[in-house]
Amino acid sequence: MMKTPGFDTYEPWSGEQRPLYLAPMAGVSDLPYRLLAKECGADITITEFTNSTALSREATASWRKMESDPREQPFIPQIFGGEMHDMVTAATMLEESADVIDLNFGCPAPKVTNICAGAALMGEPQRLVTMVEKIVDAVNVPVTAKMRLGTGQGPNNAVNICKSLERIGAQRLCIHGRTLRQRYSGTADWETIQAAVNAVDVPVVANGDITDAESAQRCLELTNASGLMIGRAAIGRPDVFAQIKVGLGWMEEAELPWVQEHQDDWDEMSETSKAFASRRWCWDRYVTLCRETTGLAKQTMQRHAIAFSKGLPGAKSVRSLMHELSDVNQSAQAISDFLRPISEG
Ligand SMILES: Cc1cc2nc3c(=O)[nH]c(=O)nc-3n(C[C@H](O)[C@H](O)[C@H](O)COP(=O)(O)O)c2cc1C
Repeated sequence: MMKTPGFDTYEPWSGEQRPLYLAPMAGVSDLPYRLLAKECGADITITEFTNSTALSREATASWRKMESDPREQPFIPQIFGGEMHDMVTAATMLEESADVIDLNFGCPAPKVTNICAGAALMGEPQRLVTMVEKIVDAVNVPVTAKMRLGTGQGPNNAVNICKSLERIGAQRLCIHGRTLRQRYSGTADWETIQAAVNAVDVPVVANGDITDAESAQRCLELTNASGLMIGRAAIGRPDVFAQIKVGLGWMEEAELPWVQEHQDDWDEMSETSKAFASRRWCWDRYVTLCRETTGLAKQTMQRHAIAFSKGLPGAKSVRSLMHELSDVNQSAQAISDFLRPISEG
């Protein structure tokens, strides 16, 4: 049987390739987007977080988020919740389809922390560890956890939590270098991630503020993490994974499908034309992958369309385009036309 990727441990980083993860992101990392990220160089993808209580009650909308595709390997659903019993039940229900089950201890949204779930559990480390232990004992697939540095009230406890989770059998840990209190403000603290890498033997994935090859390199040099997870920089920019791999010498630019599409003139194209070209390739693939899997959904497509066009000249027209057209197929085509490289008129 093939080994599930993402569980290798490494020596200090000396330039070699390590896995890049698409961060779980609610409203972003839907199945077609995860498949697209993989085609753009992401090695491992994770579903958006899903409510374990809803899953354990067999809520259809929540189970739809747990759909995968043979092209997504490993399949890693992420669940959250404050109820121990529901977390164990949901994990057990997912065990058959999942290659790995990821647990969310990082969400700072009040509707999650108010039920003592997500990052709020970092304020109750014993409860967090017991929850993971019960899930590890209940399922036969690897269990992993994604956390923040701590709650931001009192000293940060991520390193201690990592040590306890390793002891009870969690097989990989991911740290977003911010506290619950910080939400998304300030800069990510990679030094605490480095301390966690040094404190445990299981793989630790670094997350927070990795946006390009330069930040990826700095983060790996400092933390020696077993992988890097990219969130916001991958919204509307699934090609960020390829950019990082090319920048770090892990792959050749000529291998990228949007470069191959413009083989004859890529080197002469302006940076803006290149941005249009790569995003158009990604958009068209996203639409195809939607058709092959979940179908095209107006709201999701609207959100992605705005993200894909962000920062490009004329991007404002995309919003009105999306409002004017009620047919999803027409909208998909209109965005593709908008993203046609300037050089093509
Ligand atoms: C829109 C959005 C949705 C997110 N949803 C989730 C989620 O469902 N599960 C999770 O563990 N983290 C979630 N996060 C946090 C990201 O996974 C990641 O930890 C965070 O954005 C920091 O990484 P970055 O600096 O690369 O963006 C979300 C972040 C954003 C911006």
